Amino acid sequence: MSETYEVPEQVRRGAAGPVRTREEYLDTYHQAQNDPSGYWLQCAKHHLSWRTPPTLGLQGSYHTIAEAPLRWFADGRLNVTESCLDRHLATRGDKVAILWEGDEPGNVRKLTYRELHAEVCRAANALAALGVGVGDRVIIYMGMVPEAAVAMLACARVGAVHSVVFGGFSADSLRDRIIDCGASVVITQDEGRRGGRSIPLKATTDEACDGQSVRAVLVYRHTGTPVQMVEGRDVWWQDVVPSAAATHTAVEVGAEDPLFILYTSGSTGKPKGLVHTSGGYLLWATWTCATTFDLREDDVFACVADIGWITGHSYIVYGPLANGATTLMFESTPLHPDAGRYWDMVQRHRITVFYTAPTAIRALAAHGTEPVQRYDRSSLRVLGTVGEPINPDAWRWYHQVVGEGRCNVVDTWWQTETGGHMITPIAPVTATKPGSATLPLPGVLPKLLDDKDREIVGPGEGRLCIRHPWPGQARTVWGDHERYVQTYFGTFPGLYFTGDGARRDEHGYFWITGRVDDVINVAGHRMGTAEFESALVSTELVAEAAVVPFPHDVKGQGVMAYVVLRGEAPAGLADQLNGVCRTAIGAHARIDRLAVIPGLPKTRSGKVMRRILRKVAEGRSDQLGDVSTLADPSVVQAIIAAAGS
Ligand code: WTA
Repeated sequence: MSETYEVPEQVRRGAAGPVRTREEYLDTYHQAQNDPSGYWLQCAKHHLSWRTPPTLGLQGSYHTIAEAPLRWFADGRLNVTESCLDRHLATRGDKVAILWEGDEPGNVRKLTYRELHAEVCRAANALAALGVGVGDRVIIYMGMVPEAAVAMLACARVGAVHSVVFGGFSADSLRDRIIDCGASVVITQDEGRRGGRSIPLKATTDEACDGQSVRAVLVYRHTGTPVQMVEGRDVWWQDVVPSAAATHTAVEVGAEDPLFILYTSGSTGKPKGLVHTSGGYLLWATWTCATTFDLREDDVFACVADIGWITGHSYIVYGPLANGATTLMFESTPLHPDAGRYWDMVQRHRITVFYTAPTAIRALAAHGTEPVQRYDRSSLRVLGTVGEPINPDAWRWYHQVVGEGRCNVVDTWWQTETGGHMITPIAPVTATKPGSATLPLPGVLPKLLDDKDREIVGPGEGRLCIRHPWPGQARTVWGDHERYVQTYFGTFPGLYFTGDGARRDEHGYFWITGRVDDVINVAGHRMGTAEFESALVSTELVAEAAVVPFPHDVKGQGVMAYVVLRGEAPAGLADQLNGVCRTAIGAHARIDRLAVIPGLPKTRSGKVMRRILRKVAEGRSDQLGDVSTLADPSVVQAIIAAAGS
């Protein structure tokens, strides 16, 4: 018998979300399975505010996806911000919408729904004055300030498509994204703040925009540090937003019109711009936020992710706001000024739902229980995790130490591509097992395939696919529908392939085992091995490179780079190569272990046998399997020696 935790009474009592009991879960699951189109159509009408409610559910299928992207609610018309803001004014105008906690503890700002609405209207008017209109792409390169959420919503208000780029990305990465989506406007700030340090967002923006077709850069003054302003291009947010009119008639768009593009890593060096839609995405963010966390009117909802990732889009901005919740935005890190920071915030803000990544939990657990117990956590009801598999020890620490066994832990499995939660406990409903993402949400139909591409029925482990569309599914890759089709539907025709492996146990519970493709997940940050490799070989020093993950106690996975040099290894090689990755990708792209090797393990046809590199990185050189097909089997000993394992 595996360890199971029933839902604590305090979590079950007073459930208010769309799915409150086990019976409701089963019933909803069957409805959504038997008639997905009709089920979600009815939900869309119920949960969102429309100008013209849709009459159509799903159009298209995985079998026809190459010819025509999926469409949900295609004849519906709306503006996303009316669901997130306007409809709450009458009933929740004075409720706090955004509760912001800055880098220094206690530096707090609160925006009510009325204030947020007015601010979004002003920003929308300012964007319109800069010529931003329907379908235009706007890059948002900001830190965690309320104005970042305002900027996203203002884009949506005028019908523009935003693309948020995480503030840790380098100028090169930012430039690639500006070019790929053809952005004409960038919204940034002078500097970001994080963990007591400043992040030069404007300077990086200048470098990225140099020579590009960006017409305007809107700059929010946050720290007040002097920055260069380019004449005729750069505009201070403070010069144009506060003085703009506080009313704005939202621009109506179609449900299938893109709301945003979000770039994510895949198995090539070029990030993919996944396109999420106004109707389907918003429904999925709204409905999953309400369902998984069992959102209640007096909740203080704290997702401590960054808005540069999908988690921030769906569970800091769109999901909580569409539900009229109070959403916390956190500018700092879990360790600033010390390991008690999260729990200090829980006590001061009476946080009820707390959502973070396993990496943060592992890092905090290493500091012991005292920094947690110093603070009152009695307000907490639901504890969520996302981004990477959570090991049972970290899960138990979260459940017992942080939540004192009174909360339900929801380990939510999903992806940038899925828009919102897919396999996850529903807080008041699902009994949990440490390390398992448990059961699929209604509308999510998982399928496991074995290594012979056969379906696994019942318990077993294989590659995780989804066999039917859901409203929150990304519709395409910006400008490259063929890549979308190839990446997600090319492996198993008729199925969406997630890139993850998973095990299903005898109770139908899912245990995500991690990526089975060339994506590395470091501290919940998704990066492609190919991105590292193309950065490394861009230097004169490196002839060839192969990058693989290895298990890391805190970060989940670490990055190991094998390089073949053109000449002798210079002093400070590791620092130099890390500098190259930082420039090409961003500050979060770090090589943890470097091995200089004489040659990559290649087959006679020139294919790199990554399996060998992975096993050696994992310290399992005794399990290399058959290496006789290598062109030069002697290279294996050299690799093991260089890796020091
Ligand atoms: C991994 C983040 C195990 C997985 C929302 C997925 C997880 C990738 C979990 C997506 C989880 C996310 N358990 N693994 N609860 N949540 N992952 O696009 O490998 O940044 O494919 O979206 O993170 O990362 P992404």
